[in-house]
Amino acid sequence: MLSKKIATNLERSSWIRAMFEEGEKLRAIHGSDKVFDFTLGNPDTEPPESIKETFKRLIVDDPPGIHRYMNNAGFADVRGAVAGHLQKESGAPLDAGHIVMTCGAAGGLNVVLKTILDPGDEVIVLAPYFVEYLFYIDNHGGEPVIVNTSPENFQPDLRELDKHISPRTRAIILNSPNNPSGVVYGEQVLKEMADLLTAKEKEHGITIYVLSDEPYNKLVYDSIEVPQVLKIFRNSFVINSFSKSLSLPGERIGYIAANPAMDYCNQLIDGLIFCNRILGFVNAPSTIQKVVAGSLGEPAPVDKYLEKRDILYNHLLNLGFTCIKPQGAFYLFPRALISDDEAFARAAQKHNILIVPGKGFGWPGYFRLAYCVSLKTVEDSLPAFEALAEEFRK
Ligand SMILES: Cc1ncc(COP(=O)(O)O)c(C=O)c1O
Repeated sequence: MLSKKIATNLERSSWIRAMFEEGEKLRAIHGSDKVFDFTLGNPDTEPPESIKETFKRLIVDDPPGIHRYMNNAGFADVRGAVAGHLQKESGAPLDAGHIVMTCGAAGGLNVVLKTILDPGDEVIVLAPYFVEYLFYIDNHGGEPVIVNTSPENFQPDLRELDKHISPRTRAIILNSPNNPSGVVYGEQVLKEMADLLTAKEKEHGITIYVLSDEPYNKLVYDSIEVPQVLKIFRNSFVINSFSKSLSLPGERIGYIAANPAMDYCNQLIDGLIFCNRILGFVNAPSTIQKVVAGSLGEPAPVDKYLEKRDILYNHLLNLGFTCIKPQGAFYLFPRALISDDEAFARAAQKHNILIVPGKGFGWPGYFRLAYCVSLKTVEDSLPAFEALAEEFRK
């Protein structure tokens, strides 16, 4: 018998399973090459050669001790390499002691939330959002408070944010480049947000932590720069992974960087390391830690995603869709051609197109397309989108 909580959460996310099953059904009937599955953020690109080479070398050399337990924070040399890399990028004075290696960004988010939340603490989530945040917050007794971004550009709306901060606010999760909108939050709005958070901290006598979830920070287009959260927010953690930038989601490798400027920073880091242990992660997988440490400067396959973004974005606009041009990540988030986004996703299925309704991201009336699929899938799908749009043309 399931716990009541899991039974409820399973029911709430049953649409994800339903969508997956529908895809399997369509593939069985029509063949995989006739089904255009844009549902998952699972990169179709292979990791860079340097990653594969290091992996092979480590397996052949098998350095003594590499398979043993280690410090729960991860290998010291790996954390030193990550800190050095991040210090160059952000200017923040990081060293190995500020880094905890984690099982992906998902593991990192759970570790930070476990470290800082008491039961009933509120965590602000900006919509549209990555749906798993709600479950991660719930995992650690927190309560999500949803704040909408500006509908015209999906940038944070500070007036809305102001209204939702309370004496129980403990954290805010930022995700930029954003899944699902592809928007990069601007430096100016983040600086103004920092001022607002500082004022609210003083007003309520609280600390509000910024959890910056950045797995797409290397996947940006058109010379966009992702603002450095560690420079903007004093009470901040960066949570990152190599799942998207190096196409390694199955390897479960990422990290947390704690801002050295935070009060009680050392205590917080002790808490992170302890929580990595007691959540059962114990430590991030060992061999892949060593692999990524040698490839921190490896560029993400931006050009490949850019080509797919442009083909789909231009095609959808020509068909009459409205959509913000993504500045990063590998998602498009267009407005559905009818207000009922679930009905629209069902209509798309009739054309063998699989998409995720916006309601799953707290933003009904829209849909998400993950274009981390093959170029062939993108090109072959174009007539199907045309037929779909035709169905709704007046
Ligand atoms: C916004 C966001 N955060 C976190 C994750 C989890 O990534 P990881 O594989 O690093 O755990 C994802 C995965 O899709 C994501 O889109």
